[in-house]
Amino acid sequence: MTASDTTLFPPEIESFRDRIDSQLDIYSELDGDCPDHLREAIRYCLLAPGKRIRPLLVLTAAKMCGGDLSNAMPAACAVEMIHNYSLIHDDLPAMDDDELRRGRPTCHVKFGEATAILAGDSLIPMAFGILSRDIQPPEIAVQCIEKLALASGPTRLVGGQADDLNLQFAAADVRSLEHIHRRKTGALLTVSLEMGALTASADAELRNSLIKYGENLGLAFQIVDDLLDLRGSQAKMGKKIGKDAALGKQTYPAVLGESASEDRARQMIEDAIDALTPFGEGAKALELLANFVVNRTQ
Ligand code: IPE
Ligand code: IPE
Ligand code: MG
Ligand code: MG
Ligand code: MG
Repeated sequence: MTASDTTLFPPEIESFRDRIDSQLDIYSELDGDCPDHLREAIRYCLLAPGKRIRPLLVLTAAKMCGGDLSNAMPAACAVEMIHNYSLIHDDLPAMDDDELRRGRPTCHVKFGEATAILAGDSLIPMAFGILSRDIQPPEIAVQCIEKLALASGPTRLVGGQADDLNLQFAAADVRSLEHIHRRKTGALLTVSLEMGALTASADAELRNSLIKYGENLGLAFQIVDDLLDLRGSQAKMGKKIGKDAALGKQTYPAVLGESASEDRARQMIEDAIDALTPFGEGAKALELLANFVVNRTQ
């Protein structure tokens, strides 16, 4: 089963998902120097049926800025690789200790902890290698590398994950919660849009409007993830629910309550869509993705 076995979006966006899956398949073939069990673990996770939101954001942003999709595809695959590594490690016993991901046993359950750690490790250099090799011109490739390194590093994704773990069972307030969510989840969604714009050589106005959209969308995305952990369906989500409360995580519904969290996510989606004004009619696909994020059940 691939990501595209589930239809989430209209045909034009689904066709992007097919292309992303095919390219991820090619990028993870890896030569004979990669041990078979490691390649198998990498492909088991990377080619599992994810929603592919981040690569879709890269490609959609590039298209809206008049860019060539083939130049955006390496960035789309790179960000999905970083996301997949973060999920493999997020599920490890030392972190969230989850057994189910995308409807399947998690990487460490299937392949053992050491291989899961190494599969996650592998995806990071794979991502940066692709950016450096396959994006033209080289100056844009370097900018993508720099932005993705920042977004996935210790002051953003990894830092957010560290605080998410350190502050378990701590007295939560909305400010610290938002600080965690913006880093652990928002940064990667935002950089997806930014890289899409960069590969299309978009001007600063378009780039900034996409970044603003991404910041709002990113926070809303994690608020909805928190709500779904509370009241979503395990079958639809493909992951265990009720874990956040059990682990004492700082979540929006825990701090603000469900209804105020929903209101906040909806407001952020409105703000995200408002930020797209410079694109006029060209913003339709990102509006659709924003509405999907707030109404999603998976
Ligand atoms: C899950 O991300 C982790 C969070 C940041 C909440 P997704 O909900 O995008 O997971 P997949 O890629 O579709 O499995
Ligand atoms: C994870 O947040 C964010 C990452 C950087 C992976 P969660 O821990 O809430 O994600 P899920 O619910 O396990 O997918
Ligand atoms: Mg986590
Ligand atoms: Mg988790
Ligand atoms: Mg969650």
